[in-house]
Amino acid sequence: MRSDQSDSEYEDRIRSLSLFPQENPNPVLRVDRNGDTLVANPSAQQLINDLSEADHLSQEEWRNLIQFVRVADTRSKRIVEIGERVMEFEVAPIKEFDYVNLYGRDVSEERQQRRRLSDIAQALPGAIVQYTLHKNGEDSIVFSNRQCQQIYGLTEDQLAHPQTSEIWSKVHPDDLKAMQDSIAESASKLTQWNAEWRHLIDGETVWRRGTGNPEQLSNGDTRWNTIVIDITNEKLAVEASLMALRKTVGALAAALEARDPYTAGHESAVSKISKLIAERMGLDQSRVTGIELAATIHDVGKIAIPAEILSKPGRLSDIEFRIVQEHPVTGAKLMADVDMEWPIADIILQHHERLDGSGYPAGLKGDEIMLEARIIAVADTLEAMASHRPYRAGLGVDAAVAEIKRGAGTLYDPDVVSTCVALVESGEIQLGE
Ligand SMILES: [Fe+2]
Repeated sequence: MRSDQSDSEYEDRIRSLSLFPQENPNPVLRVDRNGDTLVANPSAQQLINDLSEADHLSQEEWRNLIQFVRVADTRSKRIVEIGERVMEFEVAPIKEFDYVNLYGRDVSEERQQRRRLSDIAQALPGAIVQYTLHKNGEDSIVFSNRQCQQIYGLTEDQLAHPQTSEIWSKVHPDDLKAMQDSIAESASKLTQWNAEWRHLIDGETVWRRGTGNPEQLSNGDTRWNTIVIDITNEKLAVEASLMALRKTVGALAAALEARDPYTAGHESAVSKISKLIAERMGLDQSRVTGIELAATIHDVGKIAIPAEILSKPGRLSDIEFRIVQEHPVTGAKLMADVDMEWPIADIILQHHERLDGSGYPAGLKGDEIMLEARIIAVADTLEAMASHRPYRAGLGVDAAVAEIKRGAGTLYDPDVVSTCVALVESGEIQLGE
């Protein structure tokens, strides 16, 4: 009695187990090595029924799957399209019984979603690159869209399997270090990566801007989803407007020189010297441009000084000297309403201030004087002393250098002086041209 009961429990268990694949909503099949179906759950039977009514291509795909199953010897995945449905089959050979289990899964929705995302990525107006920096320092590209062809100048073959070496090789050699640094910084601080750089594509220089957010992966790698766009036209427009600004400022300087031909060339020479000093002191490109522009018109306020005082040989009277000393204020007023990204008016205002407070108009001291003005002060003095004036011969380069050295720390910024002296000694600053 007791044994009958346990037998029946056992049978129930076996039946329930055999029904288990039947309950699977996904197709499950067992196929022998002749390609004959041994077991098919209801979902698989439905699929096979559907196949008999499906188009020729779907039937062909199914036959190919069964052919593959007959010879499969390791687990693998195969995709089969049956009508509208995209099915993924896990092919699992069971060696000791010489048959193969097939576990199907409908991946139509997944496929469609992936295609939609890919369509979006392809349609974006920039190159999308999924870039990985591995823990060992190597890097790789996980995904790239069609626009990479144009942005990175890749061929169609290269685009199919993009290598990071091909992408790096397009970066302008002068921008390579800054680019590597920007990626390293973004990786270490996990902050947004932003960079602008030049590409050399077929001998042509073009500008790119990239941005992307880093993500730390569990294996220690860092991955960015980046977008890179072409900003060549934007850069050209900025360059063109800067060029127009330079010309305008140059015209102002020329107007001044027309009134005072004896100092012709002084302002452009001071501008060149100031630029060299600023660059050597490591100031960024934009600040250097600001110094260059301000230096070109540092004496523009002299336009208000009567010509006879301006070109008077010999000593000036006290009142004449006071009139001359007003030129930084006049120049700053002239430039005050000109909207520029650099503090040109303030630089002009301060170019006769001296470190110890002995300068004019405000008697500013030390750091109260802008670095830009401290640079122009040295360049202005050096150039003025080394070149000829109507009332005296040029004192020569040596005397001019001695003068700025003597004033270092009292009148002039000692760092600016030492940088300037080094540039004269190396021949990079040439005086009396
Ligand atoms: Fe001046």
